[in-house]
Amino acid sequence: MTSSEVRTKFLAYYKARGHTVIPSASLVPENDPTTLFTSSGMQPLIPYLLGQKHPSGTRLVDSQKSFRSQDIDEVGDNRHTTFFEMLGNWSLGDYFKNEQLPWIFAFLTGELGLDPKRLYVSVFQGNESVSKDTDSIEIWKKIYKEVGITADVAESRSAAASKDARIFLYDARKNWWSRSGEPEKMPPGEPGGPDSEVFFDFGKALGLHEQSQWSNEPCHPNCDCGRFMEIANSVFMQYQKQADGSLKELSQKNVDFGGGLERMVAAANDNRDVFTSDLFSPLIRVIEHASGKTYGEETETTRAMRILADHIKAAVMMMVDGVLPSNKGQGYILRRLVRRSLLYGRKLGLTKDLTYIGKLAAPVAEIYAGSYPDVTEKIAEITLLLQEEALRFGKTLEQGLSEIKKIAVLDGKIAFTLYETYGFPWEMTVEIASETGQTVDRAQFEEEFNKHKALSRTAAAGMFKGGLADHGEDTTKLHTAHHLLLASLQKCVDPSIKQRGSNITAERLRIDFNFMRKLTPEELEKVADLVNQKIKENLKVTRIEMPREIAETIGAQREFGQKYPDRVGVYFVGLRDGIDPEQATPDDYFSAEFCGGPHVGFTGTLGHFTIRKEESAGAGIRRIYGLLSTT
Ligand code: SER
Repeated sequence: MTSSEVRTKFLAYYKARGHTVIPSASLVPENDPTTLFTSSGMQPLIPYLLGQKHPSGTRLVDSQKSFRSQDIDEVGDNRHTTFFEMLGNWSLGDYFKNEQLPWIFAFLTGELGLDPKRLYVSVFQGNESVSKDTDSIEIWKKIYKEVGITADVAESRSAAASKDARIFLYDARKNWWSRSGEPEKMPPGEPGGPDSEVFFDFGKALGLHEQSQWSNEPCHPNCDCGRFMEIANSVFMQYQKQADGSLKELSQKNVDFGGGLERMVAAANDNRDVFTSDLFSPLIRVIEHASGKTYGEETETTRAMRILADHIKAAVMMMVDGVLPSNKGQGYILRRLVRRSLLYGRKLGLTKDLTYIGKLAAPVAEIYAGSYPDVTEKIAEITLLLQEEALRFGKTLEQGLSEIKKIAVLDGKIAFTLYETYGFPWEMTVEIASETGQTVDRAQFEEEFNKHKALSRTAAAGMFKGGLADHGEDTTKLHTAHHLLLASLQKCVDPSIKQRGSNITAERLRIDFNFMRKLTPEELEKVADLVNQKIKENLKVTRIEMPREIAETIGAQREFGQKYPDRVGVYFVGLRDGIDPEQATPDDYFSAEFCGGPHVGFTGTLGHFTIRKEESAGAGIRRIYGLLSTT
């Protein structure tokens, strides 16, 4: 069964049960500076799980693009990936356990054709504040009985040896879901609840049982030995953490179901290696071709190929959603993925021409051609950016290696400095260190890393919508100047320039845009002159609301990678009198942008515009700082 069949079946199955299909949200969460990436299907739906009305009703279904950086060290085995698609269905205060558990079981057995005998489930065993989930236990017993299976409850893991053990009870470490994990770890306001998972039995272990944390106990669904794979998770999202540490029932009982598409495909095909499914095989084929090596058994080569394939896919999907390599936030994670890819590429002998990284982008577009056509649309540009990033790292790598030769003792702090300055992934430093007989302290490295993470979180929390620091008079003027600047760059330098980021304070504006080289002083002068000419012309600034598609048709500018609602506000500067904005062409205005404002009414109030600085802001991205003065 192909991945697209599984995705289509899931959406159709829940649609037939009254659910509205909603599109995947961006990998970069909108208006949520507390987290870098969308890491689960529920994340974009949090306001609705907490009680806000969703415009599409109380039953929703989707396939959500997700990225989990915390899983990065686990990638390399048969099933962990950083980027994945999560098939999800939601009841927002509508149905609950009685519908959810039989439905998902019927989907897995009926639609995917999984043998019920190979399905095992887990249920929350209870703790001091939330009791054992006896409702789910009873529902599962009934479900199994209907398909002729005796389902015993395994109260403790030693009972796993019982031949009819089917329903396994676990504590909050395994059967409680919130974005932060167990109840103690949830911050105030965070929703969560007990969950019930379904595992597919692949029949035999991978020989990893000895290495698992439960090695001295009988094998069971959560024992990590590779025999079982979790394929479905129904969260009964009904609690919210309070400031006093207690859990309060939400005003509505929700179902948050998530099942990894990659894993469902693996189960449907009875093939536990997700990297051999059609969600990865085109990538693996190109890696095999580039390296001249063969993907196969559980070897170091296979592991390196999986990591390379996973990381490049995640990098491409991030870039499709507007992330660019940088030293901060999402861009920093992207940079780390590309650098780790190069490291694992080295293990495959790919050391000479690092531009091979760019060639791995095309198979990602091939994989998602049917489901995410925007990958295909942006792939040429992404290929170039990946190549540039690889070459840039190639240079710092040489520099970093020569620095390392000078260091006598490589401790965790130095490892972090190498990571931060030269982008050396942890694994690479360890490998270098081991060549000289040294070991590096991981705990110390992580301490430095966490300090850095806390700092970038604080910086992210200071960001405002639309890149504006505030809505004061000076910031508003610079915001209008920012629109004039983008239009002037397109008119004087290159019409294909697009905004890639903005940051406007009361003191200055900053714009990031795609352009492959430094702008010449003449170009900068021409651009600033045009902005000032438009200020002198005292053009009118008007806001018109219109459907997103029309805004696109009339040529209004949007930021690369941003997602916009169906109706958008468009700010025009200098829209000619008598023109219907929805019929306008670029000749009818000086500038038109998707924008939430605020702006001045007329450009004449802006003063004089000056460009203070032009510099690189990452691969293929330039940055301009500009000021307004009263003279
Ligand atoms: N929120 C749960 C998860 O991410 C189910 O969707 O696993």
